[in-house]
Amino acid sequence: MDESTRADLANRFRYAISPEDHARVPAYGALSLALANSKVAIDLLYAVRPEQRNSMLIFAGLHDLALLGHEDLTPLYDDLRRGGGVSPDEFAARVFAVVEADPSLLTPYLDRATQTNEVNRSATIQAVLRVLCARGLREVNLVDVGTSAGLNLFADLLQVRSTDDGDPLTLVSESLSGPWPSAPSARVVSRVGLDPNPLDISNADDLRWLRACLWPEDVRRRERVDAVVSHAPNWPQRQILAGTATAVLDEALALAEPGVPTLVLHTWVAAYFEPAEQAAFGKRMRELTATRDIYWLYLEWPRAVPHLGPPEAHEPPPRAGASQIVVTEPGGEPTSWGWSHSHGHWVSLDPSVLGPKA
Ligand SMILES: C[S@@+](CC[C@H](N)C(=O)[O-])C[C@H]1O[C@@H](n2cnc3c(N)ncnc32)[C@H](O)[C@@H]1O
Repeated sequence: MDESTRADLANRFRYAISPEDHARVPAYGALSLALANSKVAIDLLYAVRPEQRNSMLIFAGLHDLALLGHEDLTPLYDDLRRGGGVSPDEFAARVFAVVEADPSLLTPYLDRATQTNEVNRSATIQAVLRVLCARGLREVNLVDVGTSAGLNLFADLLQVRSTDDGDPLTLVSESLSGPWPSAPSARVVSRVGLDPNPLDISNADDLRWLRACLWPEDVRRRERVDAVVSHAPNWPQRQILAGTATAVLDEALALAEPGVPTLVLHTWVAAYFEPAEQAAFGKRMRELTATRDIYWLYLEWPRAVPHLGPPEAHEPPPRAGASQIVVTEPGGEPTSWGWSHSHGHWVSLDPSVLGPKA
């Protein structure tokens, strides 16, 4: 590995937690800084295939080891989860020591994928469904590309509030751009997800990986995923296909209810595509939105999806590390609709989106 690659991988640990999230999850923030200085951790990340070289995979592997009963990690992570006494620096130092002592513990995770299913992103999806409804989209088929466990396929059904009401099913998202869109959500008539490795919420190993991908300190996030997992069987049926975005998109589209427009969406997914797949998928989505009654929504960090050709934003992100909301309407061009926290904690829609359509 040359020095510039090493420096890049160190930065993937160093900047894994956004500035605002350091306050929310200080122990994970401290761990990201500690692992940025670990040659061992950087070598582990280098052993991952390029498109999955996100330090979150190493964080998830460590968390999974803790959930499996590792003698040092389990009590440490349990303490963090319970809000016990371990300080962020002590947590980071002790996890760092485990990684340095036996990096082979993480070997089984290096060919996995980060599969965080962040349900709070549904708040951002719902905001878009509301604006589209105000523009005349009353019914829609959803196709969620890179769906993980498919938990964002219920985006229209969940309550969104700007402050936490304590209900684990409530999505908490602050609107930084004035009142939350007041129109109802477009009615979802079919829900299809696709993923090369769909996580099955009735399978204990899959459920553990889903939880391992979350941040142990963020109790609310964990409770929300658990609540959605337990409610999912009572909600409208989803269909989930196994396959990549380019391989099974057409099959997923064929499951949509005929005569109803389809919204193809992806949230923090194309960032994990190889460059060629990103370009091919972007080209296919442009063709589909140009020729069929298909909408395309994505929430991605623009620097990670250059081959999708993200549009110029009208405004800079209000906070560092934000994800861009990009919407393409049928016959239209990909358009920046604003920004969102990567876990949906806040949304900032562009004023032009909230006003009447030009
Ligand atoms: C970080 S997770 C995001 C999951 C979900 N979209 C969310 O926001 O909660 C990324 C997901 O993309 C999936 N993925 C990775 N490569 C993919 C590909 N080539 N095509 C489709 N999905 C892919 C992974 O399996 C994983 O479940």
